[in-house]
Amino acid sequence: MDVFEAMETCRAIRYLKPDPVPQDLIEKVIYGATRASSPGNSQGWDFVVVRDRATKAKLGPVIRERLLPMIEKVPKRPGGEAKMVDGAMHLVREFENVPVWILVCGRKVYPPGAATDQMVDAALYPAAQNLIVSARALGLGTTFTTLQIATEHEMREVLGIPADCSIAVCIALGYPDRPFGPVKRKPVSDVIHWDRW
Ligand SMILES: Cc1cc2nc3c(=O)[nH]c(=O)nc-3n(C[C@H](O)[C@H](O)[C@H](O)COP(=O)(O)O)c2cc1C
Repeated sequence: MDVFEAMETCRAIRYLKPDPVPQDLIEKVIYGATRASSPGNSQGWDFVVVRDRATKAKLGPVIRERLLPMIEKVPKRPGGEAKMVDGAMHLVREFENVPVWILVCGRKVYPPGAATDQMVDAALYPAAQNLIVSARALGLGTTFTTLQIATEHEMREVLGIPADCSIAVCIALGYPDRPFGPVKRKPVSDVIHWDRW
């Protein structure tokens, strides 16, 4: 599969099989993530890979308690959006059954001596996108999530994430239980501005 096919079919896979993901494949998607660009090649990223069921069980209830009421408020207009909301609820309800959660974390390291918060996510999102495209190429499904927005304190406590390390995104990873498919995105002609806006 070439990189365009992987990107074109890398839709959020919120329904995952419970089958474990072999460690070498997890390492491969993180290898993909760590081939990304970062400001000044600072590479200020760390990846917390959560597979242990007992660990997930410490977080699942609080994630459900805080996130389900938030997701329930998202309007479910017919079409893709309703499916997306149902899928997002499913992923939260099934938190412990998602085989792997990968938290993309990072420290404020760039520019040296004058590091800014802005540069943290600037380094982590390219890596996270590389990770999901790598996973797709290996036949693994992923969903970007921001579960940490409501449960950051508990995640830090349970997973031992240092206070100076921020959590940019929590990625669900596993074998897909629903098919990969074409992503719906705006046509290039709607977003391209040649030479000036
Ligand atoms: C930064 C970011 C945060 C996201 N957070 C969530 C999330 O919390 N839960 C979820 O189910 N999907 C989440 N998504 C996935 C998007 O909803 C999804 O990519 C978008 O609706 C387009 O759908 P598609 O990728 O399947 O084409 C997130 C995506 C990004 C980039």
